Amino acid sequence: MHLLICKDLKVSVGTKIVVKDATFYVNENELVLLYGPNASGKTSLAMAILGHPKYKIVNGRIIFDGRDITNMSMEKRVKLGLTATFQFSPDLRGITLEELAFEIASRYGMSQDQMFKLIELLKLHELLKRDVNVGFSGGERKRVELFLTALQKPRFVIFDEPDSGVDPESLALIGRAISEMVKNGLKGGLIITHVGYLAKYINATRAYVMIDGTMICHGDADLISNHIFRYGFKMCIKRFKGEIYELEEWNKRKS
Ligand SMILES: Nc1ncnc2c1ncn2[C@@H]1O[C@H](COP(=O)(O)OP(=O)(O)OP(=O)(O)O)[C@@H](O)[C@H]1O
Ligand SMILES: [Mg+2]
Repeated sequence: MHLLICKDLKVSVGTKIVVKDATFYVNENELVLLYGPNASGKTSLAMAILGHPKYKIVNGRIIFDGRDITNMSMEKRVKLGLTATFQFSPDLRGITLEELAFEIASRYGMSQDQMFKLIELLKLHELLKRDVNVGFSGGERKRVELFLTALQKPRFVIFDEPDSGVDPESLALIGRAISEMVKNGLKGGLIITHVGYLAKYINATRAYVMIDGTMICHGDADLISNHIFRYGFKMCIKRFKGEIYELEEWNKRKS
């Protein structure tokens, strides 16, 4: 069953169209990768799905769990279990990670045992008494962002570049924390990535590629990932329209 469906999405910010044409789906119990060059519209797509008021849907539909959420407020979407980890998380002065974690956990009904398990998995002990993100390294921020999202026990997460700037050991921790989120009720996720490194630690099934605001191809996660690493985005630009066999044919001809 499709858990999230975006159909013919067009999104604007101010007067600029930032997503031109995005159609994709994520099935229940599926983790899907989203690739795309810088400024291709990936984060804007995530914001529109979350319902950020700046990102206006000018065409298309978003269906989550069988419900049309296209015009739903962000608060209601979050209540349905839809959330995101952000590419750039802010510094929060005046509140420690521990204080914020207890607050979120109690609001979303996460037990202390589950919370301590996540702290353990993500190796966050030394950060608990510090103000959130203040002076944290890039990799620490990514682990903290994942932790704070996991505490919400979400049903669906858009992970915006959880693997950027993260060393291999921390990647493994993030992979394990996502598996723990699945145990706590995560039913699906879209993982925005440039490198696909996290795919080693989680079971991503399919991948999409977005270029210049348009979702131009999709297919098996390994196939798409390998193709991008070997050849970049250049064949994708020729518009596969989801016809992944063409990509396979092209790979055969090339090898
Ligand atoms: N709030 C905004 N105001 C103005 N322009 C915006 C806004 N949000 C996005 N854009 C523009 O939309 C385009 C797509 O940006 P977006 O952040 O979605 O790209 P991205 O694919 O996530 O890139 P990256 O891989 O670098 O994170 C960019 O040209 C960006 O400057
Ligand atoms: Mg982005």
